[in-house]
Parts: sequence; C-alpha cells; structure tokens
Amino acid sequence: MRHLLSARDLSLESAVSLLDTGESMAQVQMRDVKKIPALRGRTVVNLFFEDSTRTRVSFEAAAKRLSADVINFAAKGSSVSKGESLKDTVQTLEAIGADVIVMRHPSSGAAKTLADSGWTQAHVVNAGDGTHEHPTQALLDAFTMRQFKAQRDGVSPLGTDLTGLRVVIVGDVLHSRVVRSNVWLLHTLGAHVTLVAPPTLVPVGVGAWPCEVDYDLDRALAAQPDVVMMLRIQAERMNSAYFPSAGEYSSRWGLDEDRFRRLIVGRGDEVIIMHPGPMNRGLEISALAADSPQSRILNQVANGVSMRMAALYHVATDVTEAPRKELA
Ligand code: CP
Repeated sequence: MRHLLSARDLSLESAVSLLDTGESMAQVQMRDVKKIPALRGRTVVNLFFEDSTRTRVSFEAAAKRLSADVINFAAKGSSVSKGESLKDTVQTLEAIGADVIVMRHPSSGAAKTLADSGWTQAHVVNAGDGTHEHPTQALLDAFTMRQFKAQRDGVSPLGTDLTGLRVVIVGDVLHSRVVRSNVWLLHTLGAHVTLVAPPTLVPVGVGAWPCEVDYDLDRALAAQPDVVMMLRIQAERMNSAYFPSAGEYSSRWGLDEDRFRRLIVGRGDEVIIMHPGPMNRGLEISALAADSPQSRILNQVANGVSMRMAALYHVATDVTEAPRKELA
C-alpha cells in the first residue's frame, strides 16, 4: 500500500491485514521496551493544518515506537501563516528527507491532491481532510470493535471481520469525516450500521451510503445494538443553527443519563459506548456514559497508537497482504 488516503478504498483483505498488524503492534506496547526497529532510518513528518490532540500525539508515539525519526509541523507558527503554499511547504519537507507525510488539512481531498501532485515521493497518510475522511480513526474504531466482539464470542480477533455486528452512530453526521470513513470500513468488514441524527445534520446523498438512517435515537437504541458511537457536535464548522438549543439536542439525540441507563439495563456486558473525541460532555454524551464500564473511549485512544503503527508500517514498507512474521 503506497498511501492511506481513504477507508473507502480499503479491500476486506487489506483492512483485515491492517487490523492484524495492529494486534502485533498492540503486543509491542505491552512490553517493557515499547519499541521495534521496523522504520529505523525513515523520517515521518506530521503535517497538521488543523488542531488535533489524539491523532497528532498518537502518530508521533506510533512513529517513535517504530524507531522512525519524527518531525512535527503545525501550520500555526510556521511560514504557512506568511502565505507559503502547500506545494512549497511539502517540497521543503521533501528536501529535508520526509519518507512519510501524515497530513491533516481543512480541505476535503487535500491528502489525495498531495499524493497525486508529484511534489513529493513520500508516502501520504490522511489524518483527516475536511469533512471527507479520517481513515486511521475508522481503523482504530474497527480494531476496538473487533476486540470487543472477539472477547464477547471467546475467539481470537486475528483474521476476523465484523460480520453481524450492529453499530449505531449518532450525532453530527453532516460535518463528520469520522462517520464517512466508519460507514465504508464497517460495511467492508460486514457490520450493519445505522446513522441517527436530526434531519438538519444528515447530508444530502446519504441514501448512497451503505447504511440505514433513522431520526429517532430511542427507536435505534431499543433495537439493542452492540456498539453505540456518539459523534461530536462540530460547532466550529457550523455557520447556522442546525437545532433549536443545546438542551433540545441533548434531550433528543444525546446519550444522557436516562437514555444510557435504559440502554444498558439487563445487558451491561453486551453493549459498548464509543466516541472519537474530543467530547462535548453534557451535549452529545453524559459523563455517566463516557466514564461508565461500557465506555471504550480511552481504549480507542490507546488502540490509535497500535493502528497508526500498523498504518505507517504498511505504507512505508508497502505491505499489501499479510503482516510480516517478524513483527509478532
Ligand atoms: N478523533 C480525533 O481526530 O481527535 P483529534 O482531533 O484530537 O485528533
């Protein structure tokens, strides 16, 4: 795999291979010395034109645990604020010797533009482009769901997909690149996805996505899904009022305390709560749900390091199928 630009592009074989490599990387992180020499001598540049905590920090940790040299570049405080173009910025990084460029950018399609540009020979990993895709988030989410399913069913996660898993994703679908990557990857892996949102936060064209859409959260939760993923309300991308008030949103589409209690009654071990972060506590998710035994939100963060190690390894060494044995 030369680049990782989109979850939609991943075949079932590539996705399962990445998840299996993630399992090997998770084993590395349980060692005293959490480091392997897989990318020694390579340089990974984290090129972030938008704010990030989880993605940037976990890509940095992932690259360091693979023994790569890491350069962190944030547009704020760089010559981008003096008007330097993406092309000149990337060619500067190319001259410094970037082997992999991990890029977050506010424009949808920016990662593909960079990969197709000819400005750099580096491998490109999309760390979130506008409202388009966030493929490594979908991979770490799938990894988290696969571990839950394997543990519940008493089997090894290795080599398995998510066939039969019922996933409800709730919230600001309109502005979410996470949901777009998740819908495609979860479909490829065999899960059944239902999106739940106010009508104003459902994008035109969602009928072409491989999922169902509902506007009634209580009805979707009454169907007893295995996974409930809450999405952040992205106020910074909203230029008009998409719902009457925060209280109205929370009472109809939030995982508030009452709704959470109803969800877990009688099936405490059979349902998990996820959120890609950052969370708006009290808006889309209550503290009771976020901090509950059913929450996998911090597991998602930890799994992000393993899956980003896997993604960097696959692109930098051009893995196309099975993970290399020496990683195990
Ligand atoms: N989930 C996610 O992309 O979080 P950050 O914006 O903190 O990277």
